[in-house]
Amino acid sequence: MTNASTVSEANLLQNPGVQSIRSSLRSMLRLSVVFPVGVLLVRTMAWTSSGNSHSQLIENLRRDGVIQSDRVFKALMETDRAHYCKDFPFEDSPQSIGYHATISAPHMVGPSGLVVGVDHIPQLVEQSISNVQTDNASLLAAGGLKLIVGDGRNGHLDHAPYDAIHVGAAAATVPEALLQQLRPGGRLVIPVGSRDGGQQLEQYDKTENGSFTRTPLMRVAYVPLTDRKRQWSGHEL
Ligand SMILES: *[C@@H]1O[C@H](CO)[C@@H](O)[C@H](O)[C@H]1NC(C)=O
Ligand SMILES: *[C@@H]1O[C@H](CO)[C@@H](O)[C@H](O)[C@H]1NC(C)=O
Repeated sequence: MTNASTVSEANLLQNPGVQSIRSSLRSMLRLSVVFPVGVLLVRTMAWTSSGNSHSQLIENLRRDGVIQSDRVFKALMETDRAHYCKDFPFEDSPQSIGYHATISAPHMVGPSGLVVGVDHIPQLVEQSISNVQTDNASLLAAGGLKLIVGDGRNGHLDHAPYDAIHVGAAAATVPEALLQQLRPGGRLVIPVGSRDGGQQLEQYDKTENGSFTRTPLMRVAYVPLTDRKRQWSGHEL
C-alpha cells in the first residue's frame, strides 16, 4: 500500500461497506490513488485520462468510463494524487516513488472500510504514512487504515479474513496465505506470471464452501513480487 511497491506488497481490505466490489479494477483504482501500489502498465488501456489538475484527471477517468459510480468518483476527488507522488501526479500512468517502486496508474480503483497496507521497504511505509498524514491525518488516527512493514506475500493475519485483497506486484504463483486470508465471498486480485513470460491480472473469488473461482482479467506488466533484497539493493533510489 502504501506506496508502493513493489514487491511484496498487498492491500488488504476488510469490510468494504455498502457497495461490494463491483469490479476489481474499479476497486483497485481508488486504492491505487489513496495507497499507491506497484508498477502497472496496462497494455489494453491507453493513458487517455490524464489531466492538468487532480479534478481534471478524475473527471477524465469518469468521462472515459473508468469511474462509473458516484461514490468512487467522490472518494477519488477527495484524494489528491499530488499527496502521493511528486512527479506528474495528474498523468494517468504509473510514476516512480523511489526504491524501484511505483505508484500505479489512477485508472486501476474501491470501497472503504479497514484497509491494511503492507510493504517490505520501511522507507516506503514511512513515506506512505507521511503522505496520508498530509492528505487526511484522521484516516490513520481513526484506525480505518493501517500501514505496516511486512512481506505482502504473507498477507497480514492479524486482521484476517479480508473481503478484498489487491496485490500490486506480479507473483509467479498465487501466495497460499492470501487465499487463506480471504473471507468466503471475498476476492483477491493479483497479477500472475513472470516479466518475460507474460503476466495477467487474475481474480480469485472464494465461495462459501472455501473453493475458488479463477477469472483472468487482462494482460499486464507489473514489477515482480519478490523479497526486499531482490527488489532494492539499498543504494540508488
Ligand atoms: C478524512 O477522513 C475521515 C475518515 O477518517 C473522513 O470522515 C473525512 O471526510 C476525511 N476528510 C476529508 C477532507 O477528506
Ligand atoms: C463449492 O461451491 C461451488 C460454487 O458455489 C460449487 O461449484 C462447488 O461444487 C462446491 N464444492 C463443494 C465441494 O461443495
